Amino acid sequence: MMRRRDFLRRSAGLAALSFAPKFSSLAFAQNVDARIEVVLDDVLGTIFPDIYGHFAENLSGVIYDGIWVGENSKIPHVNGIRKELVDEMAKIKPAVVRFPGGCFADSYDWRDGVGPVDKRPRRTNFWNGGEAAQAPDTHRYDPNRFGTNEFTHFCRLIGAQPYLAANVRSLPAEQFYQWIEYCNSPAGSTTLADERAAAGYKEPFNVKYWGVGNESWGCGGNFTPQEYAVEFRRFTTWVPEYGEKLNFIASGSNVDDWSWTRGFLEELAQKGKGMLRSVYGLALHHYAWNLSRGRTQDWNEGKGDAVKFEPVDWYELLREGDRMEHLIQGHWQVMSEQDPHHAIKLVVDEWGPWYRPGSEATPGDQLEQMPTLRDAVFSGMTLDIFNRHPEKVAMANCAQLINCLNSLYLAHENKFVVTPVGHVFAMYAAHQGGEGVRAEFSAPAIHYDRDGKAAAFWGLRGSASLHGKELVLTAVNPNVKDAVQAQVVTRGARVNSGKAVVLTAADIHARNTFEQKQAVVPQARDLEVKGQSPVFTFPPASVTRLQLSLG
Ligand code: AHR
Repeated sequence: MMRRRDFLRRSAGLAALSFAPKFSSLAFAQNVDARIEVVLDDVLGTIFPDIYGHFAENLSGVIYDGIWVGENSKIPHVNGIRKELVDEMAKIKPAVVRFPGGCFADSYDWRDGVGPVDKRPRRTNFWNGGEAAQAPDTHRYDPNRFGTNEFTHFCRLIGAQPYLAANVRSLPAEQFYQWIEYCNSPAGSTTLADERAAAGYKEPFNVKYWGVGNESWGCGGNFTPQEYAVEFRRFTTWVPEYGEKLNFIASGSNVDDWSWTRGFLEELAQKGKGMLRSVYGLALHHYAWNLSRGRTQDWNEGKGDAVKFEPVDWYELLREGDRMEHLIQGHWQVMSEQDPHHAIKLVVDEWGPWYRPGSEATPGDQLEQMPTLRDAVFSGMTLDIFNRHPEKVAMANCAQLINCLNSLYLAHENKFVVTPVGHVFAMYAAHQGGEGVRAEFSAPAIHYDRDGKAAAFWGLRGSASLHGKELVLTAVNPNVKDAVQAQVVTRGARVNSGKAVVLTAADIHARNTFEQKQAVVPQARDLEVKGQSPVFTFPPASVTRLQLSLG
């Protein structure tokens, strides 16, 4: 591993080459491992709060048990919605929530979930086949107790925008128009508005985000991109708006399937370039699941364990997740072929790690996994990637909110806990709405053994946003054993004072459970500002937020 002094010598050279200081008076600290240079006047774009979005699918314990406990429950609730969840979410400024899927969306009839509760039908849940023997009935057979009214009410309680995903695979476009009419037509204007009012919701929900199918290349219909483009045109043409601009989100590619992005946009534009204007965002899904280090591409074989892992598995997960930056840049590049001015943005509406079963907090909950410190670091890294591309990423939705993959919360009956991932969202909320500014991280890479071959991973990265006179800087130190001491240089202003919050633990496997809720929680740390810039020691395996007051 490079020693601190060697690195200093090299980074001094680098500084001369690529970071020629604008303010020659800036003094660079000696004896630090790394440097973070924030170029305050290099504005990347506004960080849309929607990047801090969530995803709640009607899947196993996400809705029933996770969000919905019922109006007659002894568990504290607000109109049937778990109160502890509502209270916790207030702390993270949740901008938007996607519902009801995921794959579930393309099997869902929204009509089943509205109207008198005792008349709502029970339907076989899309995910029924994967449910464990001990799963409760609500996980197998959708009682439709939590439908459009309850979901939009939940969104209102937590201050988020609803994002509804429509069924393209198994319902006609007419149902899509009527769902929009039910949600958005003004009070008293239509029969569906009357139906909404009869349920207690006189005023329209004003839903502005509408997903047109989900993973239409797979569970959403096995379409080719060309076939899907035809469906997309049909679903989105001449949809009444009721005064609310509808932002249609097209089902996008799986990971690096550039041909989907290209094929969809080319086919859409066949009817004229104007057609592209009907797309607000193009979805992108990326799960970090293959921890086999190149041994297999098999979906089941390739997955790793959520809680039992070695440092090499830690780095492997981060490598897989780090592909997100390349995916964003790659799809953006392909999108520019049809849309050179980039009216269409990326909507990363599913992201997170995906492990093999076995770590569920509630045994039998399908796709539920136990987030550890590794997932917190993964999540901080991913949010930093989104922050670094604010002109490209208009929305992102972590998969999924509760009792599922990269969950912020775990709940079962009266038990509830905030996971390390939930704490990362609370820390990063400070970025929302800020001006993303360029932050250059220079730190020695981490070197490790990957099955007998030397491998490397970057040593410190993050993102920065400006909020008037406050700079928010978040950073991830992925090194499982070494701290990184870094000097923060802000070009264009001096730092007067600052504060730091760190999320870490002595054990990289640390996690919060129903019994031990405080194993991984953010801690305030001292931040000393010497001269014009602070020097901070980023602990190993950590996520950090610095808030710097600029002069
Ligand atoms: O998040 C779980 C599933 O993963 C979603 O339903 C689907 O869209 C994706 O394949």
